[in-house]
Amino acid sequence: MSENHNDTQFSNPNILPTGTPQGQSELQRPQGSEPVSEETTHFGYQTVRKSEKQAKVAEVFTSVARKYDVMNDLMSFGIHRLWKRFAISLTGVRSGQHVLDIAGGTGDLAKVFSREVGRSGRVVLSDINEAMLEVGRTRLINAGCNNVDFVLANAETLEPFADNSFDLVTISFGLRNVTDKDKALAAMHRVLKPGGRLLVLEFSKPVFEPLSKAYDLYSFTALPIMGKLVAGDAESYQYLAESIRMHPDQATLKGMMENAGFVNCDYHNLTGGIVAVHRGFKAR
Ligand SMILES: C[S@@+](CC[C@H](N)C(=O)[O-])C[C@H]1O[C@@H](n2cnc3c(N)ncnc32)[C@H](O)[C@@H]1O
Repeated sequence: MSENHNDTQFSNPNILPTGTPQGQSELQRPQGSEPVSEETTHFGYQTVRKSEKQAKVAEVFTSVARKYDVMNDLMSFGIHRLWKRFAISLTGVRSGQHVLDIAGGTGDLAKVFSREVGRSGRVVLSDINEAMLEVGRTRLINAGCNNVDFVLANAETLEPFADNSFDLVTISFGLRNVTDKDKALAAMHRVLKPGGRLLVLEFSKPVFEPLSKAYDLYSFTALPIMGKLVAGDAESYQYLAESIRMHPDQATLKGMMENAGFVNCDYHNLTGGIVAVHRGFKAR
């Protein structure tokens, strides 16, 4: 499925309302889109003020939170479960470790980490969005995961977490939505222990042109229709399709991780590069 290229102390455990709570059907990346400046950034294909993006992303996830899991299964034909399983296999997670899942949403990864780290370990499921975190919290508590803390936090600062405090940090389908990705990668580096590992699972750039065309057609036609029918929200799924096209490609993201201080970075393409898992380490 893939090809290869190439003891926690958080300041406040348990459920902490810290951090930053929130309360073109074109098939191709737009050619003439305005370049981003220091003040602007992309929200899908729109150019918006950096200060506006977070609230717009919040609207998307607040709107879809309750239908998020069912939509994921429908849109990806269940394949997101395989992508996540593969990413987890690269984490090397072990009993007793302390794990932070950023932008963790409804908790797919945190649920597995909870089992893997066992009673002597600890998992933090963290997200900027209260609605998404609440769905994740209810789900994990119902599943009996009693070694998990739920923390509202912005990936850009990871303010609630102390330096050098996690063995493993993951972010799955979250980085794309973050306004300042370089800042977020630096924060991830800060909270990792020396020798700790970062895994980024994210949509990426398909490596075969025919696949890319079919995927564009699917994304810009089927996704908004499914979004409307199932979640009553076509726009959020139009944003999903657009935000994927605006996300840095595999090599660019690897370079960004290296710039943030990560070493031994590599990535694996999944499903022909529709998704990639990037891995990097904090030097000892
Ligand atoms: C597509 S969902 C991914 C959820 C989950 N990780 C998964 O793989 O199914 C993206 C998540 O990123 C969160 N998010 C967006 N911007 C964020 C930020 N700046 N900091 C932390 N989380 C953020 C959203 O609230 C949402 O829950």
